Amino acid sequence: MKTLAEFRLDPRLTELRERAKQGRDPTAADETLCYLLETAEKTAPERILEIGAAEGLTSCAMLARTEARLTAIERDPARAATAVKNFRLFGVSDRVTLHEGDAGEILPMLEGEYDLVFLDGPKAQYLRYLPECKRLLKRGGLLLSDDVLLFGWVTGEPPKKRRMLVEHIREYLRALQKDAELETEILSIGEGLAVSRKK
Ligand SMILES: C[S@@+](CC[C@H](N)C(=O)[O-])C[C@H]1O[C@@H](n2cnc3c(N)ncnc32)[C@H](O)[C@@H]1O
Repeated sequence: MKTLAEFRLDPRLTELRERAKQGRDPTAADETLCYLLETAEKTAPERILEIGAAEGLTSCAMLARTEARLTAIERDPARAATAVKNFRLFGVSDRVTLHEGDAGEILPMLEGEYDLVFLDGPKAQYLRYLPECKRLLKRGGLLLSDDVLLFGWVTGEPPKKRRMLVEHIREYLRALQKDAELETEILSIGEGLAVSRKK
């Protein structure tokens, strides 16, 4: 896999990513972003869906490497407003549709098929979103679910107050792995990325 430096991100985007990493809802880890960008370059998606887009930084990085159109969902109004600014700053606004609100309510309203779905919203809701992600995914398309290993807690022993969340993620991973319509591989990059291809 290429390093992030090899992707030569816009320096303004690199700076915004560094700042976001210090916050409460950091942007995708460098390794995860590399995987996303490499996948986007290889598969040249026409339509991308990002669930939990935060300030739009990963969206902007993917849009810079592709000709894709992207649908972003973000519940937090302040982050969604910053995402709108960032889409303008990086000149990709005309290729983005941003839905501000709860992904659980917005996903059922989306139409058409996506080549790539990046699931990076509330981890405890992944299982609930799975049927919608599958409905929206083209055959041969990829569902990339982020943070599925969370500090090694999912395969090891989680701290007591994280047990419920970890159980949700374990349940999600079991559902992915036994889903006959998906082929899933779990990568130990960043905080863990599940890569599922719709057969
Ligand atoms: C880890 S951050 C996303 C980072 C972003 N994908 C990136 O790589 O730059 C998770 C985001 O999901 C959003 N979120 C949480 N619950 C949500 C929900 N129910 N619907 C939509 N977005 C939600 C949070 O506000 C947060 O911005």
